[in-house]
Amino acid sequence: MKFFIDTANLDEIKELNDLGILDGVTTNPSLMAKVGVQGRENVLKHYKTICEMVDGDISAEVISTDFEGMLREGKELAALHNNIVVKVPMTRDGIKAIKAFSEMGIRTNCTLIFSVGQAILAAKAGASYVSPFLGRLDDVSTDGLSLIEDLVLVFANYGFDTEILAASIRHPMHIVECAKIGADVVTCPGSSIDKLFNHPLTDIGLAQFIADYKKVEG
Ligand code: G3P
Repeated sequence: MKFFIDTANLDEIKELNDLGILDGVTTNPSLMAKVGVQGRENVLKHYKTICEMVDGDISAEVISTDFEGMLREGKELAALHNNIVVKVPMTRDGIKAIKAFSEMGIRTNCTLIFSVGQAILAAKAGASYVSPFLGRLDDVSTDGLSLIEDLVLVFANYGFDTEILAASIRHPMHIVECAKIGADVVTCPGSSIDKLFNHPLTDIGLAQFIADYKKVEG
């Protein structure tokens, strides 16, 4: 399973990248706003900086909602760096744009996926990734993980190359459950990844080893 971080925060990206376990980064307009990047030029510069930091796929989202605008923006983003994957929303124009990008050899991530039907459309259009938002489905009292399960089954049935990128991860058990189901990628906030490290028995065990070694040393 590939591990992406879902943030535009350069410090968070660097911290995880330095651990050597980062396979890529996803961003979205809300995450860019959160770190205070302003103006088109600075947005493009920020994406480029992330691409130069991380050797992996970096999702950069288009803001346009019409086909022509998405194409124009997507081409501009893809030209920034080979690591860029153009993130496109799940709409009719979005699907048309994904098809056009796939014919141009530009990789895409179809975002805001909430149903199997939407994911099938994106896969058929040639999306490199689909991003089902499991936390947001949980938020409206449905079962986000069951969507991931259904996508793994359906994509295997037809041998789709599109990778399932589980997004809107809210806690470490989302990550573990996605791994059990077989999602290709999870994109997580740094806080959820941090929590994977912790186990009280590890802390107790390490304290004991250190105390005992002190006896060995005399
Ligand atoms: O990658 C999509 C993700 O950022 C959405 O997460 O927590 O805003 O639902 P969230």
